Amino acid sequence: MNTAKNIVITGFMGTGKSTVAEIVARKLNRPLVDMDREIETRAGFSIPQIFRREGEAAFRDLERQLTHELALRHGLVIATGGGALVDANSREMMSQHGIVICLKASKADIRARIGLQSENQNRPLAADWEAHFDARRGAYAQIHHQIMTSGRTPADIAADILALANDALYVRTPDGGGYPIHIGGGLLRRIAADPEAAGLTGHVAVVTNETVAPLYGETLAAGLPKANLIVVRDGEAHKNLDTVREIYDELLSLGADRRTTLLALGGGVIGDMAGYAAATYMRGIPLVQVPTTLLSMVDSSVGGKVGVDLPQGKNLIGAFKQPRRVIIDTEVLASLPELQWRCGMAEVIKHGLIARPALLEPDLWQPEEAAYLARQAVQVKIDIVEVDPYENGVRAHLNLGHTFGHAIEKATNYAVPHGEAVAIGTMKAALLSRNLGFIDDHLVGQIQKTLWQIGLPTDIALDPFRWYAAMSTDKKWQSGTSRLVVLKGLGEAAVVEGLPRDDIIAVL
Ligand SMILES: NC(=O)c1ccc[n+]([C@@H]2O[C@H](COP(=O)([O-])OP(=O)(O)OC[C@H]3O[C@@H](n4cnc5c(N)ncnc54)[C@H](O)[C@@H]3O)[C@@H](O)[C@H]2O)c1
Ligand SMILES: [Zn+2]
Repeated sequence: MNTAKNIVITGFMGTGKSTVAEIVARKLNRPLVDMDREIETRAGFSIPQIFRREGEAAFRDLERQLTHELALRHGLVIATGGGALVDANSREMMSQHGIVICLKASKADIRARIGLQSENQNRPLAADWEAHFDARRGAYAQIHHQIMTSGRTPADIAADILALANDALYVRTPDGGGYPIHIGGGLLRRIAADPEAAGLTGHVAVVTNETVAPLYGETLAAGLPKANLIVVRDGEAHKNLDTVREIYDELLSLGADRRTTLLALGGGVIGDMAGYAAATYMRGIPLVQVPTTLLSMVDSSVGGKVGVDLPQGKNLIGAFKQPRRVIIDTEVLASLPELQWRCGMAEVIKHGLIARPALLEPDLWQPEEAAYLARQAVQVKIDIVEVDPYENGVRAHLNLGHTFGHAIEKATNYAVPHGEAVAIGTMKAALLSRNLGFIDDHLVGQIQKTLWQIGLPTDIALDPFRWYAAMSTDKKWQSGTSRLVVLKGLGEAAVVEGLPRDDIIAVL
């Protein structure tokens, strides 16, 4: 017996439920139930006939019965009728054994689609659809998985749903939509075997660097039906507008248009920079993030911040650009240099300290556990960016250790790698938290031991006054007032502002 969860695709009329469901069912090799068709078959009448003969209430009864029947089964792909899950009870039933996904579209899109269809005599509610749209909006918004369909092909939308069917994580975005984060070993090979399942059948520009291109970029691009590889130089030193300009030039010469997908394949430098190019080229083209370092997997690829450096400072130019999806293939970590693994682990530990202490368990820090580790660590980032997408509040907690760390990077002219600087900064934040009476010595010792076990440093010989001076130019210190993230306990962070200079210097 197939015990897999049902995939339930719902949403307003004209959002493409049936077309998308058909692709999903074919790809998953599962039976498809189109509820409206099923009701017609069982009743022996078309839906308009049922409406005419017995009224809408009778139709809703049939719909409810069928919903409850299907909700108890497994392994189906179900396209619901437009109104089937407006009823809270029906939504609840369907969610018990199913992943419920709501397809969204703007009114303008729905108007265009309904207008185009000659078979609208089949849709008794098409005439006053706008009133129904407004009435159902609230009910649809209750559904966790929302997929924006505007400007996207059914295959691309289906790819999101396939990812969710395969246990992808999901991030809700401020526009009311969301995107999946697919995590697993061997996903890149699976893309090459079936680009359609990853929504990559159209033109794809794979942006990567000279290190990652020979490792994964060339194989990936060769496995896609219509892809080009754009290779830039490696390193933070090239995360600037000159390289963005190179990417624009290449995109233009490849004839990339607004339907081209930009796939960022690499660490955080590529993700940030290619993401910025995707945010701005022709006012924005679809972006897929394929992070290849531990840091970019658990941190930079999720949350939509993209950008580049100026000579005056890091990340001074940027945008919020939500990706279409994030694909995390943990197998690529096999080629990651040891130092990069440790630096990524500094961010994992940070995630553990601010929200998920389970990440501090050493058994998880093995390459064999990478998929599980990444999943747990990414969930911390998701929980934060969903409630605070534009960094007005809790997103600041992700800066634990970072103000101390950035100052180390600056004062040493970036001789200390980011992850090591963050590890030292995290230790300083822990000491400060203890001095403020928030945590005890035992926890401070535990944090130190954890960082050492990974091979990360917890201190550096740096003049405290120079260090403090470098910290006070941090862009997060508003008008000279200190602003630091501290721990209130294990798994709990807070921002403290306006600490006296001496309190900070005491821990440096
Ligand atoms: N947008 C955000 O929210 C956010 C968050 C944190 C950090 N960042 C940014 O991320 C950047 C740092 O990212 P990073 O640490 O991934 O550095 P990186 O991108 O420079 O990658 C580190 C090195 O590893 C190489 N590499 C990447 N994948 C590899 C693989 N699988 N095998 C072998 N080598 C591989 C890269 O070519 C590079 O030399 C910084 O620019 C930082 O500002 C952004
Ligand atoms: Zn960081």
